[in-house]
Amino acid sequence: YYKCAIMEVETKFKVLNENFSLGDDCNPIESIKSRLKSPKSIMEKLIRRGYPLTVDSIEQNLFDIAGIRVICSFTSDIYRLADALLSQDDVTLLQKKDYIQNPKPNGYRSLHLIISTPIFLQSEKRMMKVEVQLRTIAMDAWASLEHKIRYKKSNDRLSEKDCEQLSLCAALCSQLDAKMEEINTHCGR
Ligand code: GTP
Ligand code: MG
Repeated sequence: YYKCAIMEVETKFKVLNENFSLGDDCNPIESIKSRLKSPKSIMEKLIRRGYPLTVDSIEQNLFDIAGIRVICSFTSDIYRLADALLSQDDVTLLQKKDYIQNPKPNGYRSLHLIISTPIFLQSEKRMMKVEVQLRTIAMDAWASLEHKIRYKKSNDRLSEKDCEQLSLCAALCSQLDAKMEEINTHCGR
């Protein structure tokens, strides 16, 4: 079911990408990466959060079984795409976290949406939850490398100095995005 939900939402973004590029706009989407949470990660998260280990509990408590990451060209594209998605009549917003307006203390930036959308089966319509992360190329570069660095340290915590440096890198990425947006606007979009 979750795989089907990913297919549906991916298609929604691909359609929007085509539609946006009909005008003067270039494609607002650079790439889409989707992932289905593994059974192992699902179990670990249920245990970590103290939820019952049942299928019902997974459906009720975990919102990120189906995950779609949309890498956008410019920050403004993130909001245009999110608005367009959320205005569709078969998409319901369950939760929004704007880590672009309010970055995490470590510097992480992205727009996170949890949506509910239907999939149509043989004789049933089923509402599915999907986590959508929208970010620019620069935000994605930072998040990928930060994840890699943190993962390498596994149980060891990063030093205060390393955290500071990572947060500085995130600020640089943000400046890059702002500058690119400015140039793009100048170039008449
Ligand atoms: P989770 O248990 O991770 O789902 O926490 P949450 O429910 O509070 O979700 P949140 O929206 O804060 O973040 C969920 C996802 O965003 C993570 O699984 C990552 O993919 C991404 N993310 C959030 N914070 C960070 C971060 O500091 N660094 C990186 N690289 N990714 C992050
Ligand atoms: Mg998550």
